[in-house]
Amino acid sequence: MSQPLTKQSVTDQPVTDEPSTDRPSASRASAGRPLRVVAVSGSLHAPSKTTALVKEILASLGRELAIDAHVIEINEIGPGFAGTLRRDQLPESVENELHRIETADLLVVASPVYRASFTGLFKHLFDFVGQYALVDKPILLAATGGSDRHALIIEHQFRPLFGFFQALTLPIGIYANDSDFANYEVTSLDLQERIDLAVARALPLIQINVAETDSIARSLLGQ
Ligand SMILES: Cc1cc2nc3c(=O)[nH]c(=O)nc-3n(C[C@H](O)[C@H](O)[C@H](O)COP(=O)(O)O)c2cc1C
Repeated sequence: MSQPLTKQSVTDQPVTDEPSTDRPSASRASAGRPLRVVAVSGSLHAPSKTTALVKEILASLGRELAIDAHVIEINEIGPGFAGTLRRDQLPESVENELHRIETADLLVVASPVYRASFTGLFKHLFDFVGQYALVDKPILLAATGGSDRHALIIEHQFRPLFGFFQALTLPIGIYANDSDFANYEVTSLDLQERIDLAVARALPLIQINVAETDSIARSLLGQ
């Protein structure tokens, strides 16, 4: 994942992996409103490669859909919940972020690999999320690590956690290593292609999910 990238090269060079050529025809949000996308970066510091990756994923989504994006950075809110046991003991600022997570149309979750797993504070934030608050919610999984050796963290750590929540984890996860970044920006063409492929594969599932959720909400309101 070390091929250099310029913004120009992304647009000039076709994505070679086959699915991007038969992208879903419905490439705009079917909900008739911007999609509420909440991204969580589990990094403990800033600047952060994980946060840079998250923002690149949001940029890719934003090229395909109308989105209303919000980024939660654990390094900012971590001190507000570290060591807290119960949700009703959390400060309002953290409670507001949890509410955003639980009411999002789509979650993008990412963490740096720490000792072969996500960071402790990333997990601790999700310890406060309601057990059934993420049922069927589409979730795009991503991680950064020092090397590619822990790329399966997506399958072995993230997917089981969000499986517990009965969420809809999207099929392609995005893993990046330190060499994919320069100055905390994505510089790898391979990584950019992987992001775009993950988004392209996710789009139909997201759109179906949001249309169904909105339809259920309308019928509950008697509309
Ligand atoms: C405490 C600690 C543990 C780490 N453990 C791993 C690891 O097990 N595997 C790995 O590939 N990278 C590991 N790394 C490297 C980070 O995952 C990697 O540098 C990541 O890109 C940092 O992301 P950030 O800039 O968003 O914090 C570790 C880094 C730290 C600080």
